[in-house]
Amino acid sequence: MEVSEWANVVITGFMGTGKSEVGLEVARRLGREFVDMDALIEQRVGMAIPEIFAKRGEGFFRQQERELCQELAERRGLVIATGGGALIPVENRRVLGKSGLLVCLTCDVREILRRLAQAEDRPLLDVADRRERIATLLAERREAYSRIPHQIDATGLTVEEVAERVIKLLKSEAAVERIAVRTPTGGYEVHLGRGLLARVGELAFQQGLRGRVALVTNPTVGDLYAPTVVVSLQKAGFEPTICQVPDGEAYKTLDTVRSLYDQFIEGGLDRYGAVLALGGGVIGDLAGFAAATYMRGVPLVQLPTTLLAMVDASIGGKVAVDHPQGKNLIGAFKQPEMVLVDPLALATLDEAEMRSGWAEVIKAGVIGSPNLFKHLEGRGDKLLLSTLAEAVRVKVAVVEEDPYERGRRAVLNLGHTFGHALEVLSGFTLRHGEAVSVGMMAATRTAVALGLCDETVEGRLAAILQRFGLPTHYEGYEPREVWEAMATDKKRRGKKLRFVLPRAIGQVVVTDEVSKATVLEVLEKLRER
Ligand SMILES: NC(=O)c1ccc[n+]([C@@H]2O[C@H](COP(=O)([O-])OP(=O)(O)OC[C@H]3O[C@@H](n4cnc5c(N)ncnc54)[C@H](O)[C@@H]3O)[C@@H](O)[C@H]2O)c1
Repeated sequence: MEVSEWANVVITGFMGTGKSEVGLEVARRLGREFVDMDALIEQRVGMAIPEIFAKRGEGFFRQQERELCQELAERRGLVIATGGGALIPVENRRVLGKSGLLVCLTCDVREILRRLAQAEDRPLLDVADRRERIATLLAERREAYSRIPHQIDATGLTVEEVAERVIKLLKSEAAVERIAVRTPTGGYEVHLGRGLLARVGELAFQQGLRGRVALVTNPTVGDLYAPTVVVSLQKAGFEPTICQVPDGEAYKTLDTVRSLYDQFIEGGLDRYGAVLALGGGVIGDLAGFAAATYMRGVPLVQLPTTLLAMVDASIGGKVAVDHPQGKNLIGAFKQPEMVLVDPLALATLDEAEMRSGWAEVIKAGVIGSPNLFKHLEGRGDKLLLSTLAEAVRVKVAVVEEDPYERGRRAVLNLGHTFGHALEVLSGFTLRHGEAVSVGMMAATRTAVALGLCDETVEGRLAAILQRFGLPTHYEGYEPREVWEAMATDKKRRGKKLRFVLPRAIGQVVVTDEVSKATVLEVLEKLRER
């Protein structure tokens, strides 16, 4: 593991938890620049905070905070202590979260009161009953603080001890983890680390890539991340061309691939260049297919920016485009030279896409990692590098065993037999992750009905899906209709219906021995009325 010098460290928390002192100490130990947001605002406005509140109002102060968050998010390698309320607005959390590691310091109320007993400079505590005010403010802010991925309880700890913990966390979270993937033709590595998109050039160079490269992306992702990637490529001596395609599954077609060939030719991409796929699974599949076929194949680098693409689509070498007759009907196996997973990119992903991705992370736990599942049960939706890495390891183990999808890879379809039918019935308005979520419930219930697994598995799965905001039931269709949709799809391809069923958390079996009666019974139970 190597430690990224790149990410900012942003320390927040309620007043009195020691953000500024801890931030200063962390900066001193790391030899980094320290920014105290409150102090900087005071300096710029030319007034102390109580005076700003009194003369200009809280709204003005919050606006200063918002602007400063934007400004600091553009910089790197800082240690930042925020004001206590600065990261309460979700937008500020997102903006600063994109730039590095967010840490929230907590403290028990008694200690906060003790620490703030003499404080004269806290306008929000300018009231008769400080204890009540603190308790109210804490209650108001609890939800927002709890959204911050890393929490350190500073109760009873010295500034040095808390700083030590922040640095330890930084080392584990700002580290770059590398997971090797063996393939029939050699292998590649999945690198996971905050800030990797700013290091694409350096890592591609180390990988032996040179010269002209095509950065394939769409306007949504391109506007957000292409400039960072382009700068890093140029710094490493590459000549990048940005190749844009429209956003959406509707454009995962051969026509779009043709437009990519045109852009590759125009950009002078030859056999010694490379294609870099910057985006979600759609971009990875499109750019991957183009890279597999352009000049009989040029090197490919996957830069996944959705949670689903990070833990699933970018790994394993399957690339494809859709055909009017079906999804992913035209494709190839194209192993990447490397996959760079930068979780900071997830700060801009919308919540529904995140939920969809979480369904895949949970799926990885059910398929092959009881530890990942337990970890998700304990920590909720905090995205840790270790969570991502474990989900990646599950996928890697499966694709290594079955690189060309001849057997074991079927386990990755957990939840898909039922889920795909629901997607089809909804005319694809149901998101893939939501369909997989209900599908996993159906598979588990089927396993329970067949005596393959214990009922507790079903309960644990339902609880975790609900916790991540994913559906466990479906509505609107008769079980018979769902069965028909499942069966028709298979009949069309001349295949038997195949089910992936959990035996326990972390262990699944593949079977086609499930009767229609069992399926209908399961569907009936999962139907919401
Ligand atoms: N090749 C494989 O093994 C494999 C496996 C699973 C899925 N897939 C394919 O993946 C596709 C689905 O991928 P997906 O779920 O990533 O969807 P997607 O690629 O359509 O991305 C979802 C949306 O999020 C946007 N987006 C992406 N990253 C963003 C970011 N960081 N911030 C803000 N917006 C961002 C995209 O522009 C898009 O609008 C399907 O086509 C599916 O067939 C392939």
